Order: sequence, then C-alpha cells, then structure tokens
Amino acid sequence: MCGIVGYVGNASGRANATHGALDVVLEGLRRLEYRGYDSAGVAVVAEGSISSRKKSGKLSNLLDELEEHPLPGSLTGIGHTRWATHGGPTDRNAHPHLADGGKLAVIHNGIIENFAELKQELLAKGVEFASETDTEVAAALLGDIFRNKLKGGADGGLTKAMQLACQRLEGAFTLLAVHADQPDVVVAARRNSPLVVGLGEGENFLGSDVSGFIDYTRKAVELGQDQIVTITSDSVDITDFFGAPAVGKEYTVDWDPASAEKGGYASFMEKEIHDQPDAVAQTLLGRSDARGHLILDELRIDPQLLKQVDKIIVLACGTAAYAGLVAKYAIENWCRIPTEVELAHEFRYRDPIVNSKTLVVSISQSGETMDTLMAVRYAREQGALTVSICNTNGSTIPRESDAVLYTHAGPEIAVASTKAFLAQITAAYLFGLYLAQLRGNIFTGQIKDVLADLNKIPAKIQKILDSSTELRELARSMKDEKSVLFLGRHVGYPVALEGALKLKEIAYIHAEGFAAGELKHGPIALIEEGQPVFVVVPSPRGRDSLHSKVVSNIQEIRARGARTLVIAEEGDEAVRDYAEHVFYVPETPTLLMPLLTTVPLQLFALELASGKGYDVDQPRNLAKSVTVE
Ligand code: M6R
Repeated sequence: MCGIVGYVGNASGRANATHGALDVVLEGLRRLEYRGYDSAGVAVVAEGSISSRKKSGKLSNLLDELEEHPLPGSLTGIGHTRWATHGGPTDRNAHPHLADGGKLAVIHNGIIENFAELKQELLAKGVEFASETDTEVAAALLGDIFRNKLKGGADGGLTKAMQLACQRLEGAFTLLAVHADQPDVVVAARRNSPLVVGLGEGENFLGSDVSGFIDYTRKAVELGQDQIVTITSDSVDITDFFGAPAVGKEYTVDWDPASAEKGGYASFMEKEIHDQPDAVAQTLLGRSDARGHLILDELRIDPQLLKQVDKIIVLACGTAAYAGLVAKYAIENWCRIPTEVELAHEFRYRDPIVNSKTLVVSISQSGETMDTLMAVRYAREQGALTVSICNTNGSTIPRESDAVLYTHAGPEIAVASTKAFLAQITAAYLFGLYLAQLRGNIFTGQIKDVLADLNKIPAKIQKILDSSTELRELARSMKDEKSVLFLGRHVGYPVALEGALKLKEIAYIHAEGFAAGELKHGPIALIEEGQPVFVVVPSPRGRDSLHSKVVSNIQEIRARGARTLVIAEEGDEAVRDYAEHVFYVPETPTLLMPLLTTVPLQLFALELASGKGYDVDQPRNLAKSVTVE
C-alpha cells in the first residue's frame, strides 16, 4: 500500500542520475510501484522552494508530466506511489501534499484515524484543504506546528515539528517531509507502517522497503515502532516521538538488484513463476546443523517452551493463508498438535482462546501486512509464543516475533503471489519438521527422508515449467470463459483455493475453489454443460480412499456436463477416462504435492490473463503490501 522514497545527496555525479535527487527518487518509485499504482508524485527542494508534480494513474503518467513540465535539479527529493484509501485516485488526491504556504511537502503511507477531528481543528484556524485525503491533514498539522508553534522552525526545526505532530496522530503512518527552509534534510516518521533507511557515501535514502534504493546501496537500517529519522547527505539521526535518541539495526541486503528485474520475461509474474525451483531450493538450504538437527533463522525464546505448546494457530491473509492451510496438514501429521488456520483479520475480533501454551505461526511474504501484524501483536499480548514465516528480512512481523524462519524466495514484485507461496509452504514443512524433532514426534532418519523428498522438488517444478505447452494453449483458448471452478481434497483443497484466487486477481474471471467433498452439499448445482472445473487429484500411491473419492468427484461433475481439467500425478491412469485434459506432475508424497500441483494453475492464470491483454503484474484495485486494516 503506497511506495515511499526519500533522498538527500549529490546524485548528479551518477550516470543514471543526471537530474540529481529526482532521478534517484524516480528510480525508487519504479521499483516500488508494485506497492500501489493509483497515482504518483514527487517533490524536490531547489532554489529555496518546493517544486512538485503529481498525476493520477501509473508512474508512466507522472513521467510524461515531468517531460512536459520538468523540475529543477536538486539534492533533496521525495516520491510517492499511491494505493488510494481516503479520496479517489485523482490528481488532487495524489501525494505530495503541500502546507505552510507551499514550503512544506509531505507524503504518507497508512491511515490517520483521527484525521477528521484534526481537520476540524485546522479548519477553525483558517487552514484550507485542496484534497479529500487524511495525508493533507497531517501535512497541515505539521505545517501549523512548524510555522506557528515553532515560529517558522526557530524553536526547533522540521524534526521537532514532526515529533510534535506524531504525538497528535493516531493510526498507521509512514510520513516523509521536506521543507524549503531546510533544503538538505528529509524527515520521516513511522508507526505501524514500513520504512527503512539506506546508507550511502555522501548520500542517504529512505524507502518503504529496500527496493526503493537497492540500485544505490545494500546497507540498510531498520527503524523501530514510533520512531523518527532525519537524514542529510552525511547523517542519519533517529529519535522516538518525544525526541529521545534511538538506534536502528543495521543490516546488509542479500539480494541483487538484477533479481528485482524481469530478466527477459514478459512480466514479473512469469519470471517469478520460473524462479520457483530456485525459491524452494534456497528456502531449503542450510537448515540443519552437523547433528542433523533442524534450525530456525532467529530464535528468541527457550526451545523448551515450544515443547509445551498444546495448540497452534496459523495466522495469515490471502495466498499466505492458503500456505497456512497446507501447513496445518503437515504440522498435525508430524507433530500431532491441534492446528487451526485463521484469516488474520478475523482473529482478534472473536475473542480467541490463546495462552502461553499457544503457538501462533504467522505467514507473510512482506512481513508488513497490517491485518497479520495486528493479529500477531494481539496474540503476544495474550501470552502466546509467536513464530514468523516471512520473505522480507528486517520487516515488522518477524521483528516482533519470538522466532523466525525466512523464506528465501528473493524479491516478489508481481502483485499476485507465486514463488512466495511455494517458499512459504516449504518453510512451513521445515517448521513442522523442526517442531516434531524438538518434541520427539519423529526420528531424525524420518526427517532426512522428508528432506530428501523436498530436495527433489525444485527439479520437479522445473519439469512442469518445461512441459506446459498444452496447458498454455488451453488457457489461451479459454480467455472468454465467465467462470472457472477448482476442486481439491486434503492438501489439494488449499491448492484449489489458490488456483481460483490467481484467476480472480489477474484475469478478473469469476473463480471459486471448493473442497471436493463439499460439492454434493451445494456447489454441484453450479455445474452445467461446458462449465470448466479444475480438479487437483492426490497421489494414487497415498491413502487409497482419498484418491478414489476425488476420482468419483470427477465422474460426478463430468456426468453433469462439466469440462474436467485434471491435475494428477504421473502414472495416474484412473483419471484419464473422466478428464477432458490431464496435466501430469511428477510423483511426490501427497503431503508435498502442493509444491507441484500449484504450478500448472499459476501458469494457467498467467496465460489466460496475458491472452486477455491484462497487466498481470499490476492487477486493478490491488497492491502488493496491504499495510492498512
Ligand atoms: O505479504 P503477505 O504475504 O502478508 O500478503 C498477504 C496477502 O495480501 C497476499 O498473499 C495476497 O493474497 C497475494 N498477493 C495474492 O496473490
């Protein structure tokens, strides 16, 4: 939700930054556009004043605007790409918002919950507003404090004004501000919204995440909750909202800028689907010590406490929640601990039963999803132990959890999650095995067998990717379909849900996933002549009844006219007679099958949406990181 960039330094020496700060900011926005693309805007401080441009629509519209109406060269700039919350995606509502007579520019990610009350107060003082946004209220408040309370900064500069403003703000926000009277400074604040600092030589950066400055530095600093940072070209000062000095945690970004490029693919989504063998392999890498004992990335609690856990709750949203459903099957199977999976936004509003023997496992690609973060915080307050499965180093959810298992999928740019999903499932398996080993549910030898099966998965994914021609042709032929259904059972059920979600979000086609056994309880009424239905079939080598039940489900819908599109394991001849098309995946134990059966469904959605000419990386109405509740 909204991408934010800030820069101070002498960028003009760089080949790709001949216009100074503006070029650095625009490059950051290009990389952060996946976070929101309703509008974009920039502001620079030059020649003693603020100059700003903003435009509704994608970043390309802003670039056209800047061609027509260029900005002056500058050392200091900020930029924003928006996912609209308060006020529609118009030019007027785009950020930056100006205050203090045009001398102050502010950009914002999040929601200021008490904006209405603050607006009334400011209106009473004669402040005029040009937009419908909560951001403009924050800008006006900051401007009022700087101009009136601090006497134009004489009683403390922009940093002090930001501290005082933040003391009045409620909700979630990352705010960045520049002021014409302090041309060499960007001041930023964060509460419940992401912000990282990039450390350069003679230049410093701010970004919603490290992609905002990855082209320039890999040295980053994590900011804590309720902190303010002031950057100049050669200093980074952090305080809390009351001015007390604070220290951020420095770290080095371990991925290459090239991994956040399309690398010859038509879209990030296509590239990320093809990254999956590597994403799974990297997530599996280096997970056990010399004794064959599994290890977590960060463990801030006594492992003995994990032995006493009597209930697990997996919390996540969207695709990550479907990874959580797969985790439930694996954890219950290996650890014999009752495991619930819950959408994070539902969790804390139902007064859940949580105590010190409850383990909450959160799953989040971004580590910033507000619904998940709030649910984790709530669980901690109730005394639960918390483990985070996350793809983003240093993000808020892992930082606030007792233990972390990072997925090493690399940056995921396409809004529709693909490689992060497979990496989350992989990490969930590893965590299940870790817990089972710790609690003595299974022997190290058995763990080795599962790990051996897992280590074969990357090559099997590659095989699916290399033999997808028929599936792609089918997808192209189905671009005018109005509805596609997906069925699965056991771990095939979350795969069906994920297949449907992919189709909805990038192809805008009505799609629904069902547990195959549920069909006869209602959804079978949807089946009519020609209705396409994907069916995810478990391995025939697994539990007999499971496989044969799903084959019966295929027969039932086929008999009612459905077009049956079947994902099955190689060698499964039983499905052939009832399938219009069978897409085979290599043999693997049923529990691990989601790592394979998901891939054809991702490719199907990608191909169909591309066939319709849609922007698969930036589907309408969506944003990559959902940092508002
Ligand atoms: O960053 P997170 O994994 O916490 O995001 C959760 C969901 O918003 C996310 O999985 C979303 O459903 C996917 N982008 C859909 O493809």
